[in-house]
Amino acid sequence: MLPDHPAELDSSVLEEAIEQLAGGNCVAIPTETVYGLAADATNGLAVARIFEMKGRPKFNPLICHVSDLDMAETLGVFDDTARKLAMAFWPGPLTLVVPLNPQSDIHPLVTANLGTIGLRCPTGVASSLIRDFGKPLAAPSANRSGKLSPTTADHVRSEFPDKNLLIIDGPPCNIGIESTIVKVEDRKLTLLRPGSVTVEQITECCGIEPRITDSGKIEAPGMLKSHYAPDAKVIMNCSTDLPSAGYLMFGPEKNSVADTSLNLSPTGNLLEAAANLYSYLKELDSKGIETICVSPIPNEGLGIAINDRLQRAAAPRQHS
Ligand code: TXA
Ligand code: MG
Repeated sequence: MLPDHPAELDSSVLEEAIEQLAGGNCVAIPTETVYGLAADATNGLAVARIFEMKGRPKFNPLICHVSDLDMAETLGVFDDTARKLAMAFWPGPLTLVVPLNPQSDIHPLVTANLGTIGLRCPTGVASSLIRDFGKPLAAPSANRSGKLSPTTADHVRSEFPDKNLLIIDGPPCNIGIESTIVKVEDRKLTLLRPGSVTVEQITECCGIEPRITDSGKIEAPGMLKSHYAPDAKVIMNCSTDLPSAGYLMFGPEKNSVADTSLNLSPTGNLLEAAANLYSYLKELDSKGIETICVSPIPNEGLGIAINDRLQRAAAPRQHS
């Protein structure tokens, strides 16, 4: 596993980040899952900048990041189930979608006027930045819409080369895959996006098994059929050799074409595979490969989230 993020920021970086946020600008922040493109969630212009930078369709609401459960309860309405989940998994890679607290001063662009709000309390520097800024940060992943989520500061730089964007440097995001999203509504749970907090853990925590969404209605952009896509075409569960393809392998396989093969985890560890997923897809992309063949990945535990992202990367492209 990659190292944990340090909890505190260097004071000059912290001051600069707060100045940028207070001025209505975006700041790229490392979290335990992926890098976020953060802005003051109460400032409409700042939030609009996120959409503009990402080229993101406006119907997609943004996750609001908080420093703790107290801040979260000023923004959303928590019932016993939501509180139980927050207490068990926060800070950490779980986003809770709950009814919007009518008293909150969140800008409506953040929630896309849905009447609900997605809340997440991250670990490390992101959490201390929010605490010191004193306001929630809207932060989708720091990539252009439909592209791979960044897990290093360099990925973010290459995503926005022409923008004057403060990017907080940190070690690579140690989980490497976006948070699990669960909607909590009238004691019913709906899994909107699988992630490293699993359905089993959620069920065990509150005794309610989340329903898996199957409707065609878009409740999260991660549910668009094509999302999280590299430039190359992706073929899943590949076992045959294709000429001039790149290989993304898993487990103890022979590394036949060393130059264009990367192994997500030679020992077959799903945590390691999730942490490497986006950076390896990017690395294969950077070699100008047209097709990436991906080995089968066990569809259990974190493997469910990895296969979910790979299915969307492999789907016919809907993005320009
Ligand atoms: O790990 C993560 O969640 C990362 C890091 C930066 O925290 N963030 C992230 O954000 O992946 P984003 O915006 O790329 O994905 C957030 C998902 C979207 O699919 C969005 O539609 C959904 O959360 N979402 C946010 N608010 C929602 C709401 N009120 N109802 C339904 N879905 C919501
Ligand atoms: Mg994203």
